[in-house]
Amino acid sequence: MRFPTDVLTVLTDPRTVIRNDLVRVPFELDRTVYQRLNVVLKEMGGRWDGRQAVRAHVFPHRIEEHFRQCLAAGEYPTRYEQGWYPTPHPLVMQMCDLAGIYAGMTVLEPSAGAGALTAELARRGGVVDSVELDPHRAALLREQGDSRKVIGGNFLDLDPLDYESGFDRVVMNPPFANGLAHIRHALGFMKPDGILVSVMSGSLKWATDKASEAFRMEVEEVGGEIEPLPDDAFAVSGTNVRTCLVCVPGYPGGPLRTHDWHQRQPRQLDLFAA
Ligand SMILES: C[S@@+](CC[C@H](N)C(=O)[O-])C[C@H]1O[C@@H](n2cnc3c(N)ncnc32)[C@H](O)[C@@H]1O
Repeated sequence: MRFPTDVLTVLTDPRTVIRNDLVRVPFELDRTVYQRLNVVLKEMGGRWDGRQAVRAHVFPHRIEEHFRQCLAAGEYPTRYEQGWYPTPHPLVMQMCDLAGIYAGMTVLEPSAGAGALTAELARRGGVVDSVELDPHRAALLREQGDSRKVIGGNFLDLDPLDYESGFDRVVMNPPFANGLAHIRHALGFMKPDGILVSVMSGSLKWATDKASEAFRMEVEEVGGEIEPLPDDAFAVSGTNVRTCLVCVPGYPGGPLRTHDWHQRQPRQLDLFAA
């Protein structure tokens, strides 16, 4: 959800205090602006605490980093909408550590949002290519300049064979609605000895549908891991959805369809070549 312009102006005013678990506006506001601000802060999970010593919107967790991301993006996730849940900073660090990002590595972020992951990947020296469906967020990613290349569009429409070689790492937090399809597709862009690290819906650990069971078996076969994250891992992003962390190391010749697998398949067109 986009911040109304007047609310964004208040929240980015240098006098506004956004610290620890609270937002305090220590100056007079027009009544309608205050009402709009109140709605936004409540949608983001805050509640007004009118006690003399507090007089602020208070959240059940630390919010500075989350607000920094949202204000930079000009939008915020609410409990009413699906889609953009920026990865909280401690989890970003955990994912980048797990992926083992070194300077000069090529990294794919296939659903990059407003760049929570790309910022840290680039800070560690990764050469990052990003994909983002939402045009507003894709434009932000370009402005931020962390990525070598930003593709605005549907990642599932990209063809791994349009890339001469795969990526050393894939680091992602895809939309959960079809997260497994995103992870499977992303593996097609990874070098056979690469590593993929992804946040995913916690149900991937126990779901009994064929796709989830097959994926768990393949991950186990290549020595990967699917670990549950704490229940409140995304609380700061306004959701208590259960999540897990998937880490898949490449395994040359293994069951995963990484970039080399695609390269070994005959191109559709070749089948009809004279
Ligand atoms: C859960 S958010 C995560 C954003 C970012 N990866 C992060 O960690 O903060 C998922 C993002 O994927 C984007 N998205 C959804 N479907 C997509 C698709 N088919 N191709 C590319 N991006 C997509 C959404 O617009 C959203 O910004």
